[in-house]
Amino acid sequence: MGEPLDIEALRVETPGCAHKLHFNNAGAALMPQPVIDAVAAHLDLEAQIGGYEAAALRAAECEAVYASIARLIGANAREIALLENATAAWQLAFYSLAFAEGDRILTSRAEYAANYVAFLQVAKRTGCVIDVIPDDAHGATDPAALEAMIDARTRLIAITWIPTNGGLVNPAAEIGRVARAHGITYLLDACQAVGQLPVDVRVLGCDFLTATGRKFLRGPRGTGFLYVRQEMLQTIEPVVIDHFAAPWVALDAYELRSDARRFETWEKPYALTLGLGAAADYAVSLGGDAIRARNLALAGRLRGELAAMPDIDLHDLGAEQCAIVSFSHARIAARDLVDTLRSRGINISASSSSSTLLDATARNLPDLMRASPHYYNTEDEIDTFIGQLRDLA
Ligand SMILES: Cc1ncc(COP(=O)(O)O)c(C=O)c1O
Repeated sequence: MGEPLDIEALRVETPGCAHKLHFNNAGAALMPQPVIDAVAAHLDLEAQIGGYEAAALRAAECEAVYASIARLIGANAREIALLENATAAWQLAFYSLAFAEGDRILTSRAEYAANYVAFLQVAKRTGCVIDVIPDDAHGATDPAALEAMIDARTRLIAITWIPTNGGLVNPAAEIGRVARAHGITYLLDACQAVGQLPVDVRVLGCDFLTATGRKFLRGPRGTGFLYVRQEMLQTIEPVVIDHFAAPWVALDAYELRSDARRFETWEKPYALTLGLGAAADYAVSLGGDAIRARNLALAGRLRGELAAMPDIDLHDLGAEQCAIVSFSHARIAARDLVDTLRSRGINISASSSSSTLLDATARNLPDLMRASPHYYNTEDEIDTFIGQLRDLA
């Protein structure tokens, strides 16, 4: 493990810390100064010299963003496509796969709504079926149960590594080993994982990994990325293409790009892209292990305090947990509590049952409060937060 993080310095570098107690990093984290500077400098350059001209002047820096993301997740720059969010990245991967009647998609119980409705749509169109992998005794997706489910019709394993609520970390690498052993395509939603813990696609064994910029990675809103494993690039044709993804090389022909950018289109948010690259470099410079250790300490303290409060029910699962802390209040609805706290300068978010409907139905969950600290938060902020909750009781 590397150096412990210098929290005070990291807070000075995070202007939002001066104004808010921000426990909504699973929604959108506070950006650090290098990210803000990268975005603002490029917008300013565009205003001064023109958008195309600014992109040309900063072409090398824009190109370097692919290498930055690749470094963050242990990939090769050719395996990265930059997109506007995690959902777009996930949709492009998923809808580019072919399904036939009777093909099986195996997924996790805490799957995110955006992914699940896409499964439902493709099941309606093609007659493929969705099967949910049972959980282990702690509520995480069980790799042994997955192994037992696999048959000749299993076409895709698509799970969420860290669900949008529920606190757990699914065993993404163990699931990857099962997928690789059976040669089944593996699509991993790493939206809440990237920036929160170390990510190495070679260890995960996934064919596709999708993530967003604005959450634990601390990048700007409107950014995300798709990782496509090199071997997959030899066969996968994106469900939609333009002349950037596939240049028009003859009157009746196009030629797919050889890299993952075949999933992109021509126009790009250059300022945001540079911000995303700065966020990736920032996370790499701090180190995934150090970030994870600090986040676990903060989340552990928060869970401990909440567990001791009479009106609060904690709803987190998993032997391995993360910095997304989910709870409900006996008398105050999630959205009301979020609004009240926001008026007092404290940011958390509410997570509705419909965002993880399988899990919410199975566990009979109400809408949840989601408090998600990140490494730059402090123990004092946890105490303040708990004090405010007590005050409402
Ligand atoms: C687990 C998970 N997957 C995917 C997404 C979608 O990410 P985005 O809003 O960047 O498309 C979210 C957003 O909350 C999420 O929590």
